[in-house]
Amino acid sequence: MPEAPSGERAREAGPVRLIGMSGSLRSGSYSNAVLATLREKFAGRAALELYDLAPIPPYNQDFEGDRRPPEVKAMIAAIARSDGLVLCAPEFNHSIPGVLKNALDWASRPAFASVMAGKPVAIMATSHGPLGGARCLEHMRVALDSMLARVVLAREVIITRAGDKIRDGRLVDEVSLAFACGAMEALLREIRLWREFNRAEEWNDAG
Ligand SMILES: Cc1cc2nc3c(=O)[nH]c(=O)nc-3n(C[C@H](O)[C@H](O)[C@H](O)COP(=O)(O)O)c2cc1C
Repeated sequence: MPEAPSGERAREAGPVRLIGMSGSLRSGSYSNAVLATLREKFAGRAALELYDLAPIPPYNQDFEGDRRPPEVKAMIAAIARSDGLVLCAPEFNHSIPGVLKNALDWASRPAFASVMAGKPVAIMATSHGPLGGARCLEHMRVALDSMLARVVLAREVIITRAGDKIRDGRLVDEVSLAFACGAMEALLREIRLWREFNRAEEWNDAG
């Protein structure tokens, strides 16, 4: 039997709650624009909260558990309450932006038993240039694997030349949008599957 996502069994079935994180603090960020577009596209099917990572301090292992900073506690509680995450990050130096990696490092503790363990996650990457994004996406996948998050199976979403595809803070390129929506559909499907699995388990336990 696969292991249920952490906290899933305790959570009642209801509207799908998603947390979106980009790792870009830039006003006018392309990755934030993609998340805002998806929030609108999927409104009614999922509530996608765009989580502000600016207040999250640098990770420090001296401050774990009850000693976590309040901003970190709030972020971890929000992840725990959510059904899944949508990560859309710019590629920075062929990898994950530090702001996002820092948030994931906090959220990944305690190791293998954190709010990230079993959490369904859709991943996407953007780049200003014609080639970037793939390495960031791959590094996201590796980091998420290490914390036992469930990266959903979908065709890769890599939005290159993002500046040409985003207008007025929204992703307007039809092809890129279709790929991003495909990853969202995969995420919602994964969440639905887990809800059905948990309902069946509860029914078995009761019977
Ligand atoms: C520190 C830094 C490193 C970057 N490294 C890369 C890179 O490795 N590959 C790439 O395609 N773009 C790189 N870029 C360009 C970013 O993809 C681009 O600035 C992007 O628009 C930033 O994301 P945002 O629009 O969400 O803020 C880098 C930008 C910065 C500031």
